[in-house]
Amino acid sequence: MEVEVLRREDVHKVTKAFQRDIISKYRYDKYIPKEYFVRLFSEKIRSILSTGKSIALKLLKNTNLLAIAILEWSQWDSKILNSNVAKLQLLVDSYLAKYDFTRFLKHIHNIAIDFGFDVIFSRVALSNIKIIQWMLEENYFLADILITLNKFIQKNTEVKDCTENKEICIDNASLKDEPHLIEITRGAYVFSHYYTDPHISFELAEKVYEEWIRNSLRGYADFIIVARHKGTVLGYVTCKLKKIYDKTLGIIDLIAVRKDQRGKGIGSRLIDAALVRLANKTQTIYVATQAQNISALRLYEKKGFRIISSEATLHKWLSK
Ligand SMILES: CC(C)(COP(=O)(O)OP(=O)(O)OC[C@H]1O[C@@H](n2cnc3c(N)ncnc32)[C@H](O)[C@@H]1OP(=O)(O)O)[C@@H](O)C(=O)NCCC(=O)NCCS
Repeated sequence: MEVEVLRREDVHKVTKAFQRDIISKYRYDKYIPKEYFVRLFSEKIRSILSTGKSIALKLLKNTNLLAIAILEWSQWDSKILNSNVAKLQLLVDSYLAKYDFTRFLKHIHNIAIDFGFDVIFSRVALSNIKIIQWMLEENYFLADILITLNKFIQKNTEVKDCTENKEICIDNASLKDEPHLIEITRGAYVFSHYYTDPHISFELAEKVYEEWIRNSLRGYADFIIVARHKGTVLGYVTCKLKKIYDKTLGIIDLIAVRKDQRGKGIGSRLIDAALVRLANKTQTIYVATQAQNISALRLYEKKGFRIISSEATLHKWLSK
């Protein structure tokens, strides 16, 4: 078994070898051609390799490519958690034996330590359950199960907008709404991997989402819609548009309703309003939440989203 650093000239071969895994999360996307995701992946690795703060490795056995690992420095997580965070993406041949995988993983950890990383965050598809099991045996912590859903909107379909003639008005957010949005955000995302990791304090996890909503108001989100009642914000949804060559993909990034206002249809109206806006720009919309967030999953299902992937979020602290 040999572990080698992945070089720019390997990218084409590697992408071809793991093409199925690369597109698997997008196989139900009816709008964006699959090859776009493959191209995007190749470009991402090439750019990662040129940063110097990230590294990609390949595992070979008798010259056969058995796995690749992309260890990418996460600037956002590192800054906010005050730790050096790497995101690990693994692409693994289904015939890879446990012994070889474990040795590869240990190699990755040594390299991560050399790079000065404190913690590794990794997302592994639940279809790779044996890999998840092997990672847990190497002291990874199962932080959450992420469910991603997608909605395809036919061109020229009228998305129902039930926002008129109601006491609660649907509006665009402005910077003045910031204190309300922060208040609603507090404690809203407790199922996420930041909250469940015992090495991350509750206060720090709260800070992650507070920064997230602050940044969203300052351009990280393409638009934010709020539900207002007599000057008070009752809920919000943040949306992003991601250009993929000549197509655009829509993302519902964060959604939350004030605790005492949940179950009254506000989340539903926010999604309706987001869909109306997104449908002007794209035909494919993604949203993700944790498997235990039944209210969110039911809300998305009700609005016509369908599950496309389930992944385990795993954390490995190297310095603790
Ligand atoms: C998820 C959330 C935004 C839903 O907002 P809401 O205003 O309560 O939702 P609505 O009242 O419009 O309900 C819409 C649908 O969601 C589902 N739902 C809402 N609350 C639910 C609950 N407590 N249990 C089960 N399903 C629920 C239902 O399917 C409901 O439709 P129905 O009443 O016709 O069955 C809200 O619960 C929330 O802010 N949660 C915390 C933040 C969060 O988890 N965000 C999503 C993570 S990315």
